[in-house]
Amino acid sequence: MAGEVEKRNAAIAAMEFVEDGMTLGLGTGSTAKHFVELLADEVADGLIVRGVPTSAQTQRLAEAHGIPLLPVEQVQQIHLTVDGADEADGQGQLIKGGGAALLREKIIANASDHMVVIADPSKHVETLGVFPLPVEVTQFGFTITAKKVFDALKGSDVARPNVGLRQGNDGQPIITDGGNYILDCKCAVIPDAGATARALANVPGVVEHGLFIGLARTVIIGSQDGASIFEY
Ligand code: A5P
Repeated sequence: MAGEVEKRNAAIAAMEFVEDGMTLGLGTGSTAKHFVELLADEVADGLIVRGVPTSAQTQRLAEAHGIPLLPVEQVQQIHLTVDGADEADGQGQLIKGGGAALLREKIIANASDHMVVIADPSKHVETLGVFPLPVEVTQFGFTITAKKVFDALKGSDVARPNVGLRQGNDGQPIITDGGNYILDCKCAVIPDAGATARALANVPGVVEHGLFIGLARTVIIGSQDGASIFEY
């Protein structure tokens, strides 16, 4: 698969942030999968950590690889979360949720002392918005919420938003781990991510949106032969 070497190298660089005894937020997606696999190798060699998965998918992966997990209700402190992203800009602002896990990902990231994002170079962008922005909404009233989401995007200077319900190959709406729908919002450019985040957070029916602002302290972009680390 394209970018796998870059993803793996980003995950290898992220392993440098892991210390014995840590509670770790485990991200979701194909890049985070590399990190979980590398972590599993270290656990097999004696590293003591506990993982807090950000999705049912990652929970299954971590369990299959023998990583000890901590139920989220028992978490006292999350020292470090390592997760992927759909886009990361030059200020460490992110779009996440391409894998529909944005709600749990944001809860875990926000509860973490340190969030490290790992990505291949295709995710590193000047301005957020080419990747459609995922917005998790309640099933109840989702058509009304979609109109209000459109208004919120327009009101925060997204020029021509296009809001659509995410559907699977069977034509049925995708249901998140939290039992909600996802609206994918084509924006092309999000000129003021902070303003858009605030506007979306004010829409009743929006459970969470995929703009992660002020959460990532470290962004690692993998390359063919290593990784570049950006601190914010
Ligand atoms: C999951 O909901 C997303 O936030 C993922 O972190 C994001 O889609 C990155 O996934 P990949 O690493 O597979 O591109």
